Amino acid sequence: MRFAVLSAVASLAIVSPTMAQTPPGFSPATTKTFNVKFGNTAVTAGNAIKLQDTAVAPSIDFGDVAGNSAHVVTMLDLDAPMGDADRSYSPLLHWMASIPSGDKSSATATDVAPYAGPQPPVGYGPHRYVLLLLTNPSAEFHLPSGFENQTYSDVTSRLQFPLEKFIAAGNFQVTAANWFTTENTTATSTNSTGPTNSSTTSTSAPVTARASSLQASVAGVLLALMSLQVFYL
Ligand SMILES: *[C@@H]1O[C@H](CO)[C@@H](O)[C@H](O)[C@H]1NC(C)=O
Ligand SMILES: *[C@@H]1O[C@H](CO)[C@@H](O)[C@H](O)[C@H]1NC(C)=O
Ligand SMILES: *[C@@H]1O[C@H](CO)[C@@H](O)[C@H](O)[C@H]1NC(C)=O
Ligand SMILES: *[C@@H]1O[C@H](CO)[C@@H](O)[C@H](O)[C@H]1NC(C)=O
Repeated sequence: MRFAVLSAVASLAIVSPTMAQTPPGFSPATTKTFNVKFGNTAVTAGNAIKLQDTAVAPSIDFGDVAGNSAHVVTMLDLDAPMGDADRSYSPLLHWMASIPSGDKSSATATDVAPYAGPQPPVGYGPHRYVLLLLTNPSAEFHLPSGFENQTYSDVTSRLQFPLEKFIAAGNFQVTAANWFTTENTTATSTNSTGPTNSSTTSTSAPVTARASSLQASVAGVLLALMSLQVFYL
């Protein structure tokens, strides 16, 4: 166990041009990257982005890495809803947009699943969000067979997005990837006796404290999901 953790840390420290541009363990992996920017803040293979900077869809461009085919970009949360405590909603689809052939940026993108900003609940650490650039084999974008009636207008249709199935059914190619983390560090309690520490859930915290923080976070997730639903209704 100890050895596994140490070797994972060691391999993260090795930065090379052939390093995967997807989170460790994520499949499909690729060593090619593309530009993703929230405002002026660039995403660089796993960097932390401020939650408030992620409210609006990022701009993307992929001039160097892709040909003149049409493309599809997806953004997925790998840690929904509560990271290590519960990943049962993952991967959660936050965004899907198609880019017509000949264009290489989000300037001409058409939303397939409108962008929904990250809403990781307080107290469960950062979530990982992966963006995949897929090459679309046809000039026009069509949702592939088995997905053709999806509108992604409510959150339930975005849970457990079947990525491998989607890629296979559409005959898409994984062309490039990028990823970031973000966390909601808003204080959970405005009136506790000690300093609020919402960065992680300590396993040695008293049971009552853990239970109430869990309750608060579950409520947070439900609220987040409700607001996502309301937003798209
Ligand atoms: C962050 O957490 C606070 C407190 O739970 C909540 O009010 C806020 O909406 C959250 N932010 C996002 C972007 O989810
Ligand atoms: C999509 O809708 C059409 C028309 O209602 C239906 O015939 C088809 O079976 C649906 N496809 C899926 C995958 O649900
Ligand atoms: C915190 O709780 C105390 C005792 O209940 C109360 O007097 C105080 O107004 C509360 N402070 C805030 C900021 O809610
Ligand atoms: C929160 O707790 C962690 C782990 O106990 C500690 O390392 C960190 O400094 C604390 N952060 C704050 C803001 O108190």
